[in-house]
Amino acid sequence: MNGAAPAQVRLTLVGQPRPCVTSAGSSVVERLTALLGEHDPSTLHHSIRVAHLVVAMAANQGLPAREHSAAFLAGLLHDVGKISIPTALLDKPTALTEEEAGVLRDHAAAGGWMVGPFVSSDVAHAVRHHHERFDGRGYPAGLGAADLPWMTRAVAVADTYDALVSQRPYREGCCTSQAFRELDRVAGSQLDGELVDLLIRAVTTPAASLVA
Ligand SMILES: [Fe+2]
Repeated sequence: MNGAAPAQVRLTLVGQPRPCVTSAGSSVVERLTALLGEHDPSTLHHSIRVAHLVVAMAANQGLPAREHSAAFLAGLLHDVGKISIPTALLDKPTALTEEEAGVLRDHAAAGGWMVGPFVSSDVAHAVRHHHERFDGRGYPAGLGAADLPWMTRAVAVADTYDALVSQRPYREGCCTSQAFRELDRVAGSQLDGELVDLLIRAVTTPAASLVA
């Protein structure tokens, strides 16, 4: 391990009116993201893409700058719990057994536990609950729409979109239009339909006008 976090994750996230990470926590966040990059580079790259997508959604929603920083952090850290999952499982090219799927599902709660002391509550919630579903059938807690804040719902949408368009060990990624159709199909059940529309607008709006 070289100990250095990727340049993309070096952000100023403290010193704001309502910081999304403690001053001590910013170095922890850099270490955790560096560890994730060592353990599973593809998950770190996915996390960076998700972070930028959630920021674009926040910008498109008209949220203030503090929320952009929190959005980036939530996207960046959402899968950090995969540090605790064996790479043989993360890279398995065939379908997971029920037992393996259960182990993989533990990454959400593990990530929330790791970052909880260092980040704001909205970011920690998004990390722990990014696999909850709008209809309450997700994990780890089975929370429904009423219990899912904007940040958590936005990370879920961006995570699902990037998973669809990205190559995985067990399948190729699909094209953008096909991913949009799949997001529309699960809007209102798995995902918040309004945030699906927001993601599609964010992806189809020139990035330069949204993400400085
Ligand atoms: Fe995840």
